[in-house]
Amino acid sequence: MPGINILIGDNGQGKTNVIEGIYYLLTGKSYRVQREQELLRWEQIEFHLHGDFLMAHNKVSLESHYRAKKKIVKVNQVPCQRLSDFVGTINVVFFSPDDLVMIKGGPSERRRFLDLHIAQMRPGHVGLLNSYNKVLQQKNALLKSYVDKSLKYSQLQLWNEQIYKFGEKIIRNRLDLTNRLQDVADHSYGNLTSQKETLKVNYIALGNKDAKEAIARFPQLLNDKLEQEIDRQIVLIGPHRDDIQILLNDRPARLYASQGQQRSIVLSLKLAELELIRQEKGEYPLLLLDDVLSELDHFRRDYLVNFIESAYIQTLITMTSAENHFGSGALYFVEEGHIRREQ
Ligand SMILES: Nc1ncnc2c1ncn2[C@@H]1O[C@H](COP(=O)(O)OP(=O)(O)OP(=O)(O)O)[C@@H](O)[C@H]1O
Ligand SMILES: [Mg+2]
Repeated sequence: MPGINILIGDNGQGKTNVIEGIYYLLTGKSYRVQREQELLRWEQIEFHLHGDFLMAHNKVSLESHYRAKKKIVKVNQVPCQRLSDFVGTINVVFFSPDDLVMIKGGPSERRRFLDLHIAQMRPGHVGLLNSYNKVLQQKNALLKSYVDKSLKYSQLQLWNEQIYKFGEKIIRNRLDLTNRLQDVADHSYGNLTSQKETLKVNYIALGNKDAKEAIARFPQLLNDKLEQEIDRQIVLIGPHRDDIQILLNDRPARLYASQGQQRSIVLSLKLAELELIRQEKGEYPLLLLDDVLSELDHFRRDYLVNFIESAYIQTLITMTSAENHFGSGALYFVEEGHIRREQ
């Protein structure tokens, strides 16, 4: 249904499963597990997902079929060769309590957040990441191998050219997104906290807070690190080690933000994502919120509910019991894996 859709059910009834299914259909990936095998219903050997979507200007039908370690994705009945051919057809923003790892977890969680967003907006980004990772593996393999040091040196310089070629574009994409997120996220964080607190996000490229300068010095930095990389036998510099610095009131959120503040920061980043997608695509993405409301205080909860209602964003939101904070919306009851629309 357009607008707000509320999935209500007791614990363990299947609300998250519904959200996960929709997310998988739209992105070709699970946000939870690495392997499709783990998404199968117990005792089953295949799964099939199908959804019809109505956008501002066109209708899109998506299908996803998995069987025997193979998946087939179809857009309007036409099979897609690559994931990047269909990711972003229908945009989606997803938020669950697990997203708090963006604050407390390691840099890879924050890079993943940026990369997932960019992949939806610029299909070429997935290819860049794949190419970069291949080069990274090759360079790592060479660092670990027993080749004469001088020969190794010249071969490594060749790999470094490739690292630079793909890495520089990855950094630019991520930096551009972080800069655009910064303004919008600070604004929504201000609203969420009645302007009492500030939020800053900074892309740290190649260990440097000034990412533009880091990009300019990238070839030099690669060269400077070579000796150390040969000693340690591992690639020490490149976008695979980058991070986003998240500052709450100018202090690192990772160290100082409370649970509720962390939640609000992630929520602001997600709302910022929503806004950026709207700016670029002309309409809001689908918003999936799993177990979010119960964790927010009254003020923040009301702000979020008002925001979704007034912007008329199509939203699927889960909650337990019939504790419903929305003035509008379609109600669905989830019980033992079945969904029933409220009469
Ligand atoms: N591979 C699987 N096949 C079949 N059932 C599964 C599988 N994995 C998990 N389940 C079951 O699905 C049920 C529903 O899980 P889900 O996470 O969707 O519940 P939920 O309604 O979101 O609950 P909560 O309110 O606790 O978040 C659980 O009871 C779980 O045991
Ligand atoms: Mg759940």
